[in-house]
Amino acid sequence: MLNLPKKVTIIEVGPRDGLQNEKLFVPTVIKKQFISRLRNAGLQEMELTSFVSPKWVPQMSDAAEIVTDCLDADARNIVLAPNRRGVDRVYSTDCQAVAVFVGVSNSFNLKNINKTTKDSMTELVPIISELKEKNYFVRACISTAFYCPYEGKINESDTIKLCQEFVDAGVDELSVADTIGMAAPDECFALFSQLKSLFPHTLLTAHFHDTRKLALANIFASLQAGIDRFDTSAGGLGGCPFAPGASGNVATEDVVYMLERMGIDTGVDLNKLIDAIEVVRPHLSRQIESGYYRLHAQTV
Ligand code: HMG
Ligand code: MG
Repeated sequence: MLNLPKKVTIIEVGPRDGLQNEKLFVPTVIKKQFISRLRNAGLQEMELTSFVSPKWVPQMSDAAEIVTDCLDADARNIVLAPNRRGVDRVYSTDCQAVAVFVGVSNSFNLKNINKTTKDSMTELVPIISELKEKNYFVRACISTAFYCPYEGKINESDTIKLCQEFVDAGVDELSVADTIGMAAPDECFALFSQLKSLFPHTLLTAHFHDTRKLALANIFASLQAGIDRFDTSAGGLGGCPFAPGASGNVATEDVVYMLERMGIDTGVDLNKLIDAIEVVRPHLSRQIESGYYRLHAQTV
């Protein structure tokens, strides 16, 4: 028998992961409309933006304005912060959910955050305690959980060790990422099965990039391991500027289509999701290539 949940939570990462790698600056007003329409499509948990250095990621330089205008009291509004400065910037807003991010691979973490993995954890562990004391929702994004563009295959035990450090620090959620879209379904099943049994009280989310078109298969394998939360990006946009090979995230519309076809409730309206993609599409430097979007475009 297949192990399928009745309901899956989609965490929309389009406004953050989706746009952070876009070459041309997407106007702030368009980002706000994109977020608003994504909400209208039923996406209740969303990464809105990131409080990172605007020199490193110019696309996210309007983070403060996005947060000021896009918080929704009925939704989980997540913003990324890599360090003390980022978290202090979050404190100056009304946002209540923060995502920190660290790579299992040292080489990747140095390229992405300019620190070793160990130094990032030394900085973040007390910050996480502080956030929890202040009642923030804390999500930890674990990059290069399977493969690294610089170091190759990552040991499962190293990923589990980093997850354990975050759980011990008190995070609410682990978002475990195949940053460069290289994991295979059996590897996803193996890692997520272990994480499920090791961390039964932590929300576990899978974050797949679709570089090798294995993301849907990986989601299916992760469902079998008991995962019912997935990060996805409308239009399949996305990629990390510091991880060569991190092409788009798995497309929200393809994931919703697959899950709903299997009778799994996502709460997402596909037509309204397409409306959200249409807002941002003219401002992108790339084509929308998701299967569901292309089929839809042919029939209208
Ligand atoms: P650094 O240059 O080492 O920073 O960068 P620093 O501490 O030496 O500070 C240098 C300057 O940056 C100072 O300003 C700081 O104030 C400023 P100056 O005195 O020169 O004017 N600064 C900041 N400004 C705004 N916000 C901040 C901040 N911190 C310092 N938070 C730093 C270190 C972490 C800042 C930099 O490396 C950075 O911003 N990295 C972010 C990279 C990033 O956003 N990557 C993409 C997100 S992760 C991802 O996509 C993966 C994920 O999707 C999962 C997956 O798929 O794997 C989550
Ligand atoms: Mg990502």
